[in-house]
Amino acid sequence: MRAIVVTPGSEAPHVREIDRPDPDPGEALVRILRVGIDGTDHEVIAGGHGGYPEGASRLVLGHEAIGVVKDPNGSDLDAGQLVVPTVRRPVEGGPTDYFERGEPDMAPEGHYVERGIAGAHGFMAEYVTSPAEFLVPVPTALAETGFLIEPISNVEKALTLARASRSAFEWDPESAMVLGNGPLGLLAVGLLRAAGFDRVYCLGRRDRPDPTIDIVERLGATYVDSREDTLREIPDVHEPMDLVFEATGHAPHAFETIDLLAPNGVGALLGIPGDRSITLDGGRLHREFVLSNKALVGSVNSSVPHFRAAIDTLEAFPEWLAEDVITDVFAPDEVESAFETGDDRIKSVIEFDTL
Ligand code: NAP
Ligand code: BGC
Ligand code: ZN
Repeated sequence: MRAIVVTPGSEAPHVREIDRPDPDPGEALVRILRVGIDGTDHEVIAGGHGGYPEGASRLVLGHEAIGVVKDPNGSDLDAGQLVVPTVRRPVEGGPTDYFERGEPDMAPEGHYVERGIAGAHGFMAEYVTSPAEFLVPVPTALAETGFLIEPISNVEKALTLARASRSAFEWDPESAMVLGNGPLGLLAVGLLRAAGFDRVYCLGRRDRPDPTIDIVERLGATYVDSREDTLREIPDVHEPMDLVFEATGHAPHAFETIDLLAPNGVGALLGIPGDRSITLDGGRLHREFVLSNKALVGSVNSSVPHFRAAIDTLEAFPEWLAEDVITDVFAPDEVESAFETGDDRIKSVIEFDTL
């Protein structure tokens, strides 16, 4: 069967014929339909994040997938059921406590591998196997868009952590800003609108006309250009934000978010930057952080309840949103084009099969 792999020293992801996997006891066999590409995949390919499975000379890419159960292999799943796999798996022979309590997304490094990212093969293949407990059933209507459930679930988790950090007092957020108009940022804007936020802003650094700005505005949100307003100026130009999602990976944003927040506000940091030194007025930011009861939370990955919430969110999206976000669909043999980037591209997806 065909799989899309990276190998040490190879310049780009490519198609490789590999053996179709046989499910172990407790695992189901899944026929993959579509696998999305995100910023993390590009970081993995560049060697800046993740790594190969132990002893392996290649990594099958892909962590945003949707597929159909081909062989339930004695699990509770039905053949033909549409499923989305979660990303984290226990390290072979390692600790499993976070998995046992259903919170693998909170496990520290060393307690997990991530399929398609770090230490385990991913889902960019015609067939994959997975323990049934990591396959989330999805309604058939989401066969083409369901690979968006994984990135949306990352935002669901961030929102859960943000709300939890404000749960000790009465917190009624009204304004929210997403930093970043990449696929994760746009899905976050969609999620906030679906969650009932009326005043939503999205930060980018693009000139009009631009397809991401069109999506932001069609969602009823306000586009803000980071080249015109710094995060510190935005509260005066627009308004202070009760909630901020950082999805640029631009390191200064993590700290400048403190300036952007309203008193009692919370910023959830999702971007994963490379190493970078920055100069900041740390004293002022620290003081502002404390005297205004602000909060920052880091958030990575997601667990099954976040995937379930993401299914509801995807179903609540206006129909045009997924269509506009999924700009490019490629066959596996078009892998070279699939990993190209550009301002006209939002979410590229590789289609292995259809329902
Ligand atoms: P992406 O495609 O790289 O998107 C990042 C976006 O941020 C781009 O559209 C970029 O604009 C914009 N941006 C960067 N610097 C900016 C600045 N100074 N001002 C305004 N806009 C700026 O990545 P993605 O797939 O959407 O993911 C976003 C980040 O989240 C990445 O770092 C990714 O690794 C991380 N991530 C984290 C999780 C998690 O669970 N924590 C999950 C998924 C992804 P241009 O396109 O115009 O350059
Ligand atoms: C994935 C997450 C993963 C994170 C860090 C994101 O792109 O969607 O599942 O935990 O990268 O590797
Ligand atoms: Zn991702």
